[in-house]
Amino acid sequence: RGDPRLQGISKAIRVVPDFPIPGIMFQDITTLLLDHKAFKDTVDIFVDRYRDMGISVVAGIEARGFVFGPSIALAIGAKFVPLRKPNKLPGEVISEAYVLEYGTDRLEMHVGAIEPGERALVIDDLVATGGTLSAAVRLLERMGAEVVECACVVGLPEVRVRLVVASSLLHLCKMAL
Ligand code: PRP
Repeated sequence: RGDPRLQGISKAIRVVPDFPIPGIMFQDITTLLLDHKAFKDTVDIFVDRYRDMGISVVAGIEARGFVFGPSIALAIGAKFVPLRKPNKLPGEVISEAYVLEYGTDRLEMHVGAIEPGERALVIDDLVATGGTLSAAVRLLERMGAEVVECACVVGLPEVRVRLVVASSLLHLCKMAL
């Protein structure tokens, strides 16, 4: 908010009505990825915010948290941990269920991916109900991580705020636990 880069980022995100089901206004970040400046600005804003916060883990949520998370992790000197949909990870996992805007699902994380006490950042493209982020926070906390913040590109229902930076969001997740 107030950052001149946000307008370009916002404009680069395509809104598709009634996808994947009637009534959903789908926020399509694939068009943001086609715009080099907007894509880079998005990653840079997160990197500027998180580079000096002692974060050693960036956890990205499948699928679109995988688009932004690794670039942020590399730039801030952290490792990247994928939080995946059920039965995708080959090793031993822990699992958390959550209710979605449309349907229910589960997130899984590899046991041993992080050490207790590590400082973690959770990245996704979008928060709607916060259910997905809440499950991510629970996974990381079960492994003993300290979740510093959750960050998304698009925040709903405040659609105008395209970049939700998220100590407040983390608060929202914790309230939903
Ligand atoms: C979307 C989005 C977030 C989640 C947000 O993913 O990318 O991960 O929903 O919703 P919430 O805040 O209400 O939990 P989706 O579940 O559609 O999965 P996908 O990324 O595999 O398409």
